[in-house]
Amino acid sequence: MNLKEVVGLKAAEYVKDGMIVGLGTGSTAYYLVKELGRRVKEEGLQITGVVTSSKTEAQARELGIPLKKIDEVEAVDLTIDGADEVSADFQGIKGGGAALLFEKIVATYSKDCIWIVDESKMVDQLGKFPLPVEVIPYGSHNLFRLFEAKGYQPTWRKTDNDEILTTDGGHYIIDLHLEAIENPKALATELDHLVGVVEHGLFIDMISKVIVGTEAGANVIPVTHA
Ligand code: A5P
Repeated sequence: MNLKEVVGLKAAEYVKDGMIVGLGTGSTAYYLVKELGRRVKEEGLQITGVVTSSKTEAQARELGIPLKKIDEVEAVDLTIDGADEVSADFQGIKGGGAALLFEKIVATYSKDCIWIVDESKMVDQLGKFPLPVEVIPYGSHNLFRLFEAKGYQPTWRKTDNDEILTTDGGHYIIDLHLEAIENPKALATELDHLVGVVEHGLFIDMISKVIVGTEAGANVIPVTHA
């Protein structure tokens, strides 16, 4: 069973006529977008998509999903996106696909957010997955050295050609290999205050549901953040 497809299909059930829908990025969100494209074409589903990356934009356009830019809408009704890790208290790391900045912007202007993950992404504590930090290129090598000095084990996000990757927003990504994040909120605040950091992959108190793919099917877990 393809667990990414299972949760993508399940999440699509929450999308109704007339909605403005935030379309996530990654190999799980791919199946959501594919299913929404099918419903638009075959069932006449009326939605407007707001994409979180150039990759998702290309897929949605190909499928004929009508799109608007985030600044053309005042709010998004529902955003559905993947995640790299989700902790027991439903905080997350995102950005494995380098789209964290646009993903966080779209999530911020969304009335509701759902994450779709296979069960391997559910963890007790965040941090095994490297935490992406999106940075302005100017001065970024000094930021890298600062992270080294803090013991955060930084690495540059690279392209297949071994060059530093440039995001859709024109920035670089430094991945922090932390292994365990004791206090995600405190780390988020610390990173928020570093000059040159545009955004980071800690998504705190953002979702109302996580849909977890297991061999038994899609498990919908409602989330209330304290
Ligand atoms: C993209 O930048 C990410 O935040 C993705 O949503 C996340 O990496 C999950 O991707 P997969 O569904 O491909 O695992």
